Amino acid sequence: MTKTVILKIRRRESPQAKPRWEEFELTWKPGMNVISAMMEIAANPVTRDGQPTTAIVYDSNCLEEVCGSCAILINGRARMACSALVDQLEQPIRLEPLSKFPVIRDLQVDRTVLFENLKRTKAWVPVDGTYDLGPGPRVYPQEQEEAYPISRCISCCCCMEACPQFNQKTGFVGAATIAQVRLFNQHPTGKALKHERLQALMGDGGIQECGFAQNCVEVCPKDIPLTRAISDTGREVIKQALRDFFRG
Ligand code: SF4
Ligand code: SF4
Ligand code: FES
Repeated sequence: MTKTVILKIRRRESPQAKPRWEEFELTWKPGMNVISAMMEIAANPVTRDGQPTTAIVYDSNCLEEVCGSCAILINGRARMACSALVDQLEQPIRLEPLSKFPVIRDLQVDRTVLFENLKRTKAWVPVDGTYDLGPGPRVYPQEQEEAYPISRCISCCCCMEACPQFNQKTGFVGAATIAQVRLFNQHPTGKALKHERLQALMGDGGIQECGFAQNCVEVCPKDIPLTRAISDTGREVIKQALRDFFRG
C-alpha cells in the first residue's frame, strides 16, 4: 500500500472571509518537509475527497530557514514550514496562519508590526550619507561572539506569536525587537542611538510588559538567547530611566 501524508489546512479567501478547513492527501516521499507538501498542494489543488479547489496561498522564499517568511502554525506550534520534517509530525498535520497577525489569505499574514517596532526602536546602525565613510570601528572577537547569535534573527515572528504578552491590549513590542535593540546598542557605531532606543522601550508596550515566561526562546528557530537579551536590555532601560530622572 502507498504511504501517504494527510494535511489539514485552515483557509480563508480574504481577511473578511470566514475560515474553513480543507484536507489533502499526498504520496509520502523520503525527506518530505511541510513546505514541499504545501508546494505540491498549490500546484495540484485537489482535496482529499477529490474536489478541485483553489491553490493555497502562503509565504516562502529561501527554503532553508534564512528568509523567515514561511512561519506558520504547524500542529499548533509556531515554526518554519521549510524546516519541519513531515516524518517528525503527528498526522493529520494541521497548518494554520499565525494567529496574532492579520491574515491576508490562507496561510499568509501581515507582519508589518515587527518592522514598525524595529523602526520605533531605531534598530539599525546610523550611517550619514552614501559616500565612502572609510573603515568602520574595530569590533573585537569577544564583541563579535556576543553579537553574532542575536544577529541571526530572521524576522519570522515566531517569538511574538508564542508570547502571552504580545497582544493588542499590551501593545508589547516583543522579544525580537528587544533583541535587536541589544544588538545595535552593543555595536560601536550603532551605540550612537542607544539612548533613543532605550527610551523607546520605556512605558506602554515597552520592555516592562515582558512577563519573562520564556515561550519566545523555546520557539525561536535560530536559538537566539532572547531571555538574556531581554534581561540585559531591561537593566539598561532601568539605568537609563534613572539617569533621565536625575537629569530632570
Ligand atoms: S520572556 Fe515571555 S513575556 Fe517576555 S518576550 Fe519572551 S515570551 Fe514574551
Ligand atoms: S528572535 Fe527568533 S523567533 Fe523571533 S523573529 Fe527572530 S528568529 Fe524569529
Ligand atoms: S522559506 Fe525562508 S525560512 Fe522558510
